[in-house]
Amino acid sequence: MKTLNAAVIGCGSIARFHFPALEKAGVRVAWVCDLNAEAARPWAEKCGARVTTDFRDALADPALDLVDVTAIAPVHKPVCLAAIAAGKAVICEKTLAENAEDAWQIVSAARERGVVFYTSYMKRFIPAVAKARELLPQLGRILTTHIRAHQCWGDLWTENPASGHAHTPPGGRSGIAVKYAGGILPCGGSHILDLVLFLLGRPTRLHAVVHTPPGRDYDLLAAALMETPNGVVHFEALTHALRRIGAWRDGWDERFEITGVHGRLELYSPLWDRPDTHAAYLVHYDNRTAQAVEYRFAPVSPFERAVAFFCGNIARGQQGEQSPLTGYEVDELIEQFRRSAGLGRSVEIPWRDAPATPS
Ligand SMILES: NC(=O)c1ccc[n+]([C@@H]2O[C@H](COP(=O)([O-])OP(=O)(O)OC[C@H]3O[C@@H](n4cnc5c(N)ncnc54)[C@H](O)[C@@H]3O)[C@@H](O)[C@H]2O)c1
Repeated sequence: MKTLNAAVIGCGSIARFHFPALEKAGVRVAWVCDLNAEAARPWAEKCGARVTTDFRDALADPALDLVDVTAIAPVHKPVCLAAIAAGKAVICEKTLAENAEDAWQIVSAARERGVVFYTSYMKRFIPAVAKARELLPQLGRILTTHIRAHQCWGDLWTENPASGHAHTPPGGRSGIAVKYAGGILPCGGSHILDLVLFLLGRPTRLHAVVHTPPGRDYDLLAAALMETPNGVVHFEALTHALRRIGAWRDGWDERFEITGVHGRLELYSPLWDRPDTHAAYLVHYDNRTAQAVEYRFAPVSPFERAVAFFCGNIARGQQGEQSPLTGYEVDELIEQFRRSAGLGRSVEIPWRDAPATPS
């Protein structure tokens, strides 16, 4: 197979998982881009790549095959649209955009131009998640799912948080809101919404509560009841200050509990940035045998698995079984959480590619 040439756009904290993943996938990083050239330079030296502070330099390279977008949220749309227009395949970090309309424009452009396009929700590639999907039919009809993503972000519930990123200047935006396009909902919640889509299908209706403290521009709590083709989902994403809760007693408490007619799956997923030492695990209780089986997995980086899958498909010139719409779907759900919370009532999800309802 042809060796792919990639550009990595954005060299902050998440990029450290993408560079080794690209290397392991056999991809040549030809361009490294960051507004801050000093952030880009060490990676460029390591990869033997060219450095730029303007992503358009990389896109102008006819030898470039794919663009890996690892910059902050507001940068995703201009980079994705320009890369698609240049005919490049794209892997974009989550969330795809800052709102559903922008996400829809991006995925529509990718489909029209016919380029391979992924939003990198890497939790689909966790072995315990793949096993859960494989075991789902054994539950029979799925009745209800409880999901919790409780993340320890320190003192954000206090009036004067210590981190400068947590302060929303009058008329401006906080560092948290700029990076993630909001708070816990687009940050941790988006991954869990992606797993709802992956495991249970598209929700049709939801009723949400979203708490944003006065004077801030990011949410600290988002909860919802959702109707899906596979039962009801009880969802909660929360930032908190409890340092020793969760399955690993490290403040990270993220779990899925899917209950069906014949059994239950419980999925525990560890703090996201230690993929080499911590592995998600799964418990399957089968009511027909009255046995519970615990599935444990060796730690493996879901970033590496995701990028290997994406790049394999890009090299073959095919989208493969992961839809280019994923990033839009999650952003639509986030938008509908906010709409429902604002209206104080449940809302139907207006999926933009749903066939028109006959009148
Ligand atoms: N998959 C995950 O689990 C996960 C975890 C953390 C962050 N993320 C996502 O990754 C993205 C980046 O987050 P981060 O924590 O790395 O942020 P970061 O602030 O650490 O790094 C972002 C980098 O982008 C650069 N940048 C900003 N504008 C740019 C531009 N126009 N061109 C080139 N570079 C530009 C900044 O200089 C910075 O170096 C966000 O979308 C975030 O939601 C995903």
